[in-house]
Amino acid sequence: MKTIQDAVVPKTDDWPRLRRAASRCRACPLWENATQTVFGEGPQTASIFLIGEQPGDREDREGKPFVGPAGKLLDRALADAGVDRDACYVTNAVKHFKNEPRGKRRLHKKPNQSEISACEPWWKAELALIRPRTLVCLGATAAHVVFERVVRVQKERGAFLVSPASERTLVTVHPSSLLRLPDSADRNREYGRFVDDLKLLRSD
Ligand code: URA
Repeated sequence: MKTIQDAVVPKTDDWPRLRRAASRCRACPLWENATQTVFGEGPQTASIFLIGEQPGDREDREGKPFVGPAGKLLDRALADAGVDRDACYVTNAVKHFKNEPRGKRRLHKKPNQSEISACEPWWKAELALIRPRTLVCLGATAAHVVFERVVRVQKERGAFLVSPASERTLVTVHPSSLLRLPDSADRNREYGRFVDDLKLLRSD
């Protein structure tokens, strides 16, 4: 039985110290199969705080969030929406890559509720430190932790909502969900909807 412990999060507004503490986190067993903790990244003055699910293979190797295919799509969508990437702090609900080794590949596995809960103090500490104007949930896992309830992304996307974590919370799809669409017409349409959601951040 793998144990889940309380994350030891220092009370600090020193971001590098927070990041260092997160790099040593052993609160859940996910660190064992991961290369490193992938902490959030972006200016501490960011007015927009984006939260995804967990790092992927590329993020795990590079130690930075959203640098793989989903991150490239996110960057393009932010640019197409006219949102300054430098106004954004980007992080994940879970800071280690959950995966299952399969030959030379590592298959992405969804984090379970206890792993998500174990990691919650980290994104909350980041949020408290950055104090953004707007919190953006990329996909259902992020929306679930932020709203503390199941969120139907397609129903609740595209409008500013009050969540327990922020007075101004936007829910939209996770960019990976667009990459998984097999049909290019669907992909283009859904990409346009994603950009439309992000356009709401232009005034932030
Ligand atoms: N998907 C995420 O949710 N986060 C990343 O950092 C990369 C892919």
